[in-house]
Amino acid sequence: MTHPAPASSVEPAARRDLADAPFLVAARGGLPSRVPVWFMRQAGRSLPEYRELRAGTRMLQACFEPDLVREITLQPVRRHGVDAAILFSDIVVPLRAAGIGLDIVPGTGPVVDHPVRTLADVEALPVLDAEQVDPVADAVRLLVADLGDTPLIGFTGAPFTLASYLVEGGPSRNHERTKALMYADPGTWHTLLDRLADTALTFLRAQVAAGVDAVQVFDSWAGALSTRDYREFVLPHSAKVLGGLADAGVPRIHFGVGTGALLGSMREAGADVVGVDWRTPLDEAVRRVEAETDRGDVVVQGNLDPATLFAGDDVVRREATRIVDEGRAAAGHVFNLGHGVLPDTDPDVLTRLVAHLHTLTPGR
Ligand code: CP3
Repeated sequence: MTHPAPASSVEPAARRDLADAPFLVAARGGLPSRVPVWFMRQAGRSLPEYRELRAGTRMLQACFEPDLVREITLQPVRRHGVDAAILFSDIVVPLRAAGIGLDIVPGTGPVVDHPVRTLADVEALPVLDAEQVDPVADAVRLLVADLGDTPLIGFTGAPFTLASYLVEGGPSRNHERTKALMYADPGTWHTLLDRLADTALTFLRAQVAAGVDAVQVFDSWAGALSTRDYREFVLPHSAKVLGGLADAGVPRIHFGVGTGALLGSMREAGADVVGVDWRTPLDEAVRRVEAETDRGDVVVQGNLDPATLFAGDDVVRREATRIVDEGRAAAGHVFNLGHGVLPDTDPDVLTRLVAHLHTLTPGR
């Protein structure tokens, strides 16, 4: 007797042939046919159609409903004509899937039931099994079937940023409990980050197997660390995640906020594309990364200050053009914001920004 195959054993989607997609060409350091652009948090509260669809469904519930994930991911692609889609999900999705008690509280962010502070807490922490994110993989398969020639970006939180939520119990300004654990009990710290690296890598591999065309590792809060501490306490674990995808054949983007002093180290961790926030001009970022890593040909992503989108179209166009010009110092440039779209952003400003970028000439 045969049984219908569960969704998890559906064949991995055949990777689409997107060799000419501007986003992928630029991410690989080639010359794209136009300036590629996508926006961190392009899906979400800036879009009325998102707010309507999400009404009555909790964020983390939505992330496990493949049809909803599919539709929310497609919304900004349809509306803005961006050059890539990013999977609608959250960095805490793999933690919740693994069985860790947490929720996303509107207006606050991820909140953890039992903060992780001791070796016993760390050892009790479940590590993700790939089947636990089957709904996410299903959403990816639906999306690659729908997206035509638009690439799909998968993502994960990096071990440090995930650890910060788990140790603090929620969002934190100074990350003091996280750093206290790191400094006072390095053994427990490294055990925690190693487990989170395994979870992050399993989450990304599941997305790649289901068909995403690129991945981004968000180490949003790594900018809280000195270069020295980043290299000792964080880099080896992020390298496990990025290095674990070296043979996957998809570009790997590595992004954090306030990471001007870490950009070289973040590339060294295994990034093909270095994400830059708005504080460091892209040409300066390229100089720093190339000097720190003794390698040329860095590809960068960024870096319009999301607050600029409130200053009127003339300012937006001027700043966007400046950033494209600064990006010519790099082997490749993917235009993005320096952090996520702010919820009150007028989405029409984003649509007009994409149209403006597509009139510019890419390349060095
Ligand atoms: O970029 C995209 O369009 C894809 C979607 C995406 C979300 N979260 C959806 C989301 C991505 C890439 C993330 C990653 C994420 N989540 C990060 C790293 C990126 C970054 O911003 O630095 C972080 C730190 C989180 C944790 C998190 N989740 C925060 C801080 C919040 C906001 C809480 C709030 O209400 O202010 C969330 C919730 C969240 N994740 C929302 C969305 C669209 C808002 C939830 C809602 O619509 O109610």
